[in-house]
Amino acid sequence: MQHPTRTLVSLDTGIDEQTVRAALPASADIQVVGLVRGVDESWTTLQETPTDLLVVACTGYSERALFLIASAVKERPGMPVVVLAQASPDGFLRRVFEVGADDAVRLPESPEQVNFVLQKVLVRRRAAGKVRENGDAPMICVLGPKGGTGKTVTTSNLAVALAQAGGSVSAVDLDLQFGDLALAMGVRPEKTMYDLVQSGGSLDVDKLDAYVMPHSSGVRVLVAPTRPDQASSIVPEFLREVYPLLRATSDYVVLDSSPGFTPEVISAIDNSTYVCMIGTLDTLSLKNTRLGLETLELMGYDSDRVVLVLNRADTRVGIDDEDVLAVVGRRPDIRIPSDVEVPRAVNEGTPIVLTKPDSAAAKAYRSLAAEFLRREGHEPVETTADEPDRGDGAQGIRGLAALRSRDSNGKAHEEAPGEPRKRLRLGSRRH
Ligand SMILES: Nc1ncnc2c1ncn2[C@@H]1O[C@H](COP(=O)(O)OP(=O)(O)OP(=O)(O)O)[C@@H](O)[C@H]1O
Ligand SMILES: [Mg+2]
Repeated sequence: MQHPTRTLVSLDTGIDEQTVRAALPASADIQVVGLVRGVDESWTTLQETPTDLLVVACTGYSERALFLIASAVKERPGMPVVVLAQASPDGFLRRVFEVGADDAVRLPESPEQVNFVLQKVLVRRRAAGKVRENGDAPMICVLGPKGGTGKTVTTSNLAVALAQAGGSVSAVDLDLQFGDLALAMGVRPEKTMYDLVQSGGSLDVDKLDAYVMPHSSGVRVLVAPTRPDQASSIVPEFLREVYPLLRATSDYVVLDSSPGFTPEVISAIDNSTYVCMIGTLDTLSLKNTRLGLETLELMGYDSDRVVLVLNRADTRVGIDDEDVLAVVGRRPDIRIPSDVEVPRAVNEGTPIVLTKPDSAAAKAYRSLAAEFLRREGHEPVETTADEPDRGDGAQGIRGLAALRSRDSNGKAHEEAPGEPRKRLRLGSRRH
């Protein structure tokens, strides 16, 4: 069930609040989450309040209003903006559209007419299909304090497993010097994020679209620079512009990272919904995993948003979950077995969830995807060997429908009483 459109109304200096209130629709579809006076206050509220639509009300030409619109369009490309103006002096309307507003209404106007314009804008945005209906998609930062723990293999398999569940997924390689996500996935690095930076100009959804490389699974990959000397061009500020655009056009964003807490990795953690911490099963790696988790804690990162993965988890090495608990301070959420098919799949340039979907490692990666789906409020269903895949695409459609029923914070909607939990299938497809 779709929730009402949460609408924030920003009142510019001089505009009469009553005039604006009188124009706002009483429709159940439009839920006014706040009427806020001034640009600064509106901007702060926008950061703190889940908002699907911004209405900016002003008396006439207002640089403050234009600034607010431009900032909102840039930071929240998934959120439409409508202007209510008491007067439209020369050039103001043109500027309003230039900075990215979707529509404008001259006040006074009837609530019915304002409602018509708001609904028109919302429907057009959804029909354009470029932006997600409900704003920000969850972003998962795959982290491992040391090199070689399996971050890249996990990122590629997690991204593909989420795509197999029906979601649209973007992956970003934040290992800026030695990124090999494209290689692990078999994506041709025709364009990289370095090319995107070099291209200059402003960044928007269309521009970014031309620089993400498609994978056969549907995952879109923003590839790391091909040479280490190009890495310094990719600054955290640039990446902070990229994330909201990807989150507005995907159901999930997965970030591969470099070893250690580099500036771009710290910035990615700060911006992510979840951290997927990868450790391996030996004492030295577990000590580093504990240090990594402690660092996240020092950064103020909520430990509930951390998913702990033990890679190369093999019972024969003599370390069990209790030992992990003693060293790391928590039990692993997911264990990925050591499997010779993993490096084989990497060498083939195809994630193991595609090459050997029935292997234990592939099942573990699908469990990892299921963990995130579950955290987003969707109940995944592991296909059993006896359950035939109907081969009619129902898996993807069901999954996508479920993935999309989130609000702008990426949180799952409350279910109506008696409504069954949405179910996703994460089993391997039969050929
Ligand atoms: N579960 C596994 N079983 C067997 N081999 C694995 C497993 N996970 C990872 N590997 C192998 O370990 C190596 C390192 O994996 P990967 O490149 O994903 O690590 P990383 O953390 O991204 O490394 P870096 O920090 O250098 O980027 C690869 O050769 C990969 O094939
Ligand atoms: Mg790597």
